[in-house]
Amino acid sequence: MSNLQNRCFCLFGNPVSHSLSPVIHKIFSKQINIKYFYSTILTPKKSLSFFLKKFFSQENNVGANVTLPFKKSVIKYVDFLSDRAKISESINTLKKIDKKFLVGDNTDGIGILYDLKRLNFLKKNFNILVIGAGGASYGIIPYLMYNMNKVYVYNRTHYKSYLLVKKFSNVGEIFCLKKNELKNYNFNLIINATSSGIYGQIPDISSSIISENVYCYDLYFKKIGYTPFLQWCKKHGSLHVQDGIGMLVSQAAYSCLLWNKKLPNIENSLKSLKNSIKI
Ligand SMILES: NC(=O)c1ccc[n+]([C@@H]2O[C@H](COP(=O)([O-])OP(=O)(O)OC[C@H]3O[C@@H](n4cnc5c(N)ncnc54)[C@H](OP(=O)(O)O)[C@@H]3O)[C@@H](O)[C@H]2O)c1
Repeated sequence: MSNLQNRCFCLFGNPVSHSLSPVIHKIFSKQINIKYFYSTILTPKKSLSFFLKKFFSQENNVGANVTLPFKKSVIKYVDFLSDRAKISESINTLKKIDKKFLVGDNTDGIGILYDLKRLNFLKKNFNILVIGAGGASYGIIPYLMYNMNKVYVYNRTHYKSYLLVKKFSNVGEIFCLKKNELKNYNFNLIINATSSGIYGQIPDISSSIISENVYCYDLYFKKIGYTPFLQWCKKHGSLHVQDGIGMLVSQAAYSCLLWNKKLPNIENSLKSLKNSIKI
């Protein structure tokens, strides 16, 4: 038994009841042969600081994930940022070190890159449209710029996409678009990084940007059936639609690596997850 056994991790977010993270980490724990516990903590929007302090005050509680709406606001409560968290200015993984300091990291970018490559959804020189400018977009965008891809960003609240694009403009080619400009571009890959699916909605954009050769990826996923965004993409002709379940497993695998120094097998874990929730 190493001292890595029997430690506790959790997910801070609001909402969290739909989260599959506890199931995923159970699969990882078995696979890497390190027993650890993972729970969800529904965190009131104004109480993140209190909940973080309470959780990490326990010696055995040594790491956590952070989901919406806290990925950016959690930054002010950590002692150190990894390079990945610094670049994206957003955090999805926390690790307690030396029993008292919190390190913030971000595995969303490496998670989506792994998944898009697994699906063969990402090719050199793709024009990529990211819809949304929240915490997840900040995490994934620097990784999407990989391989000379041009990234276009559209968000319901234009000012937020303007700020996002400004932040990443020194990383590569990135452009901020307004709704009426979308129809002037040919996108190869469209990524829905909004939380609209959680509320059964889709972003309000013209279907003219969808065609059979456009790859459509939704960070959100549903246990059964297509997400509202992917249903809409299929309806308007896309033959290539995928939800974010693979990203969910891969970003979680890289959190697991940070906490346990072992990377679970992502393909096998994804299969086990799909079996356990009967997708
Ligand atoms: N698969 C994965 O591993 C993975 C990882 C990370 C995140 N996610 C998913 O990604 C999504 C975004 O997460 P986040 O952390 O970025 O959330 P967030 O920080 O709360 O940002 C939400 C974003 O969605 C937009 N939005 C919300 N409702 C909308 C609607 N009805 N129409 C158009 N835009 C809408 C917001 O636009 P405004 O700025 O105009 O409010 C904002 O850009 C969530 O569904 C989350 O579950 C999945």
